Parts: sequence; C-alpha cells; structure tokens
Amino acid sequence: MPVMSDPITLEVVSKRLGEREVLKSVSFAVKTGDVFGYLGPNGAGKTTTIRILLGLLELTSGKANILGEDVSRDEARRKVGFALEQDGLYENKTAWENLSYYAWIYEVAESAERIDKVLDLVGLQDRANDRVGTYSKGMKQRLALARAMIHDPELLILDEPTSGVDPSGQREVREVILNMAHGEGKTIFLSSHNLDEVQRICNRIALIDRGEIKLCGELEQLQQEMSNREVVIETAEITSEPLFAELKSIPRLGLQEGRGRSLIFVPQEGVKVPEIVSFLVGRGVGIEGVSRKKASLEEIYATILEKAELS
Ligand SMILES: Nc1ncnc2c1ncn2[C@@H]1O[C@H](COP(=O)(O)OP(=O)(O)O)[C@@H](O)[C@H]1O
Ligand SMILES: [Mg+2]
Repeated sequence: MPVMSDPITLEVVSKRLGEREVLKSVSFAVKTGDVFGYLGPNGAGKTTTIRILLGLLELTSGKANILGEDVSRDEARRKVGFALEQDGLYENKTAWENLSYYAWIYEVAESAERIDKVLDLVGLQDRANDRVGTYSKGMKQRLALARAMIHDPELLILDEPTSGVDPSGQREVREVILNMAHGEGKTIFLSSHNLDEVQRICNRIALIDRGEIKLCGELEQLQQEMSNREVVIETAEITSEPLFAELKSIPRLGLQEGRGRSLIFVPQEGVKVPEIVSFLVGRGVGIEGVSRKKASLEEIYATILEKAELS
C-alpha cells in the first residue's frame, strides 16, 4: 500500500507520446531506505518514468508524488538528487569547478566543505583538479553521483548509473551507491537493464516491460515465491537403489534425481519439506543438510517476460 510519506508513489500513471502509450497505468511505491531497482529492457519506459518524476515531462493521466509533493511542484525537486543518462558535466572544467557550479545552482551553504565531502564519498578527491574530459566513463558516473548529492537530498534518482561503464568501474559505482544508501541514509531509485546489478544492490524492484509493470515487490520475497520449489537434501551416504526406487514411486514427494549424496525434489503442492525429511529419517537415512533454491532474478525475469510474450 502506498502511503503519503513514501519517497515515491505512482498511481495509475499513463503517458502518451504521439500515438503511443509509453506508460500504461503504472503504479508502485518506493519506501524510505529502499534501494529500489526499476528494471526493464531498452524502450520499456524507464527514462520516461524518471522524466515524469523529475517534472521534466508531464504525465497524461494518474498521479505521481515525490517526498509527499506532486511532481509538478518545485518543492519536491529541491529534495531530490538525480543523475540522468546524459551526465550533464562540463568536460573542459575540473571536477571541483563542476561541483562548484552545481553548488551555486542549489544554493549550497559552506559549499567548499560540501564539495570536499561529496568528492570523498565518490572517491575522487585526488582527481578534483583534473579536467572531466580526462576521466573514464566510470569516474564521470561517480562525479555525476557526487553532483546528485551536492545539496544533501533525501532521495536519489539515477537513470542507468552503470550503463556503458566497464566492469571494474561498475563495481566502484555500485559501492558508491550502496554507501550513499547505507552510510548516508539516502533512499535510492535506480533504473537498470542489468539483472545482476539489481540483484546485487536492490532490496525492492519493479519490472517494467512495454510500459506495463509486470512485477513489483521485495526482491527476497519474489525470489522465494518464484522459486521452482526445488529442494536439495544432502544425505550422509549415497541413497541405495531400492530406497531410490521407493522414493520415486511416491509422486507427491517429487523426487527428481540423485546427484552424489544429494537428493533433489520438487515436491507437489501442499507437501512440506519436513515430511520428506522424516520419511528419509524413518528409512534410516542420515540428513546432513536441507536447502531450497531461490529463483535468481534472471529466472524471474525470463518467466515474466515469457508470459508477457504469450499474452
Ligand atoms: N519523445 C518521444 N516521442 C515518442 N516516443 C518516445 C519519445 N521518447 C521515448 N519514446 C519511446 O518511448 C518508449 C520508452 O522509452 P524510454 O522511457 O526511453 O525507455 P527506457 O528508458 O526503458 O529504455 C520507447 O519505445 C521510446 O521509443
Ligand atoms: Mg532509458
């Protein structure tokens, strides 16, 4: 349930661009403290949503709030920091000069101290006086994050923050984002088409495809719900042929295969893991471990988008 004080709420937001409905009744809420991943393939509508949140584009219908204010109001934008795909940095100026300019725009008090602080946050202090044109893509992205943080906003909105950055640069950008969330206490909304990245840093996600939200919720919970219910039981010894056959003859247990000392089950609906365990114990089997496989975000994504293609 979205509540008024949530950092971001969208309620049945639609956006028409020319003949096309680019967003179709999009609803979701970002909670305080979230690192929220807005995931979707290219052209899904992520940047359009972000432009609406930042008041750069008007919505056609519905309602969108940031920090309790309608997105059309300036009050909301002042408490938000953002980094869009075009990084908006001046290449022929130094990092310090860039930040100094934005500090002036945002009327930051004690700007020199703040600039030092944000440079430190993104690990660019020793490059502060180099021209941005000499920076790698990853460094530019980190500088864009520093700029987004210049006025100490409550909420950061980041459009594909690691897009086009090499793997080691991506790791640095991710670390900066996590530090902003957990060290600096910021709520973060980021868009991405990178599943691995979202799985690593986000606690909540929304999946958008062709302008529609297909899935939304706590990542951990979605992974549990969307798991294929596979249960792996480690036994002390390799299961004997007769016991294996007996297990196989009980369809409700859903024995799939034996792999060394592991037995792999996909139990039928309503069968609980302890039932399988006590069955095995009853046959004198030593149990060394039980684990349930969580669905990876990649599997979730594939399942959802496959469904979308069929519908
Ligand atoms: N100014 C525009 N006019 C018409 N269509 C647009 C415009 N901007 C974006 N689109 C279309 O809207 C869809 C969503 O775009 P976008 O929000 O940029 O997607 P994403 O950021 O998820 O890649 C795309 O199909 C894109 O072609
Ligand atoms: Mg985009």
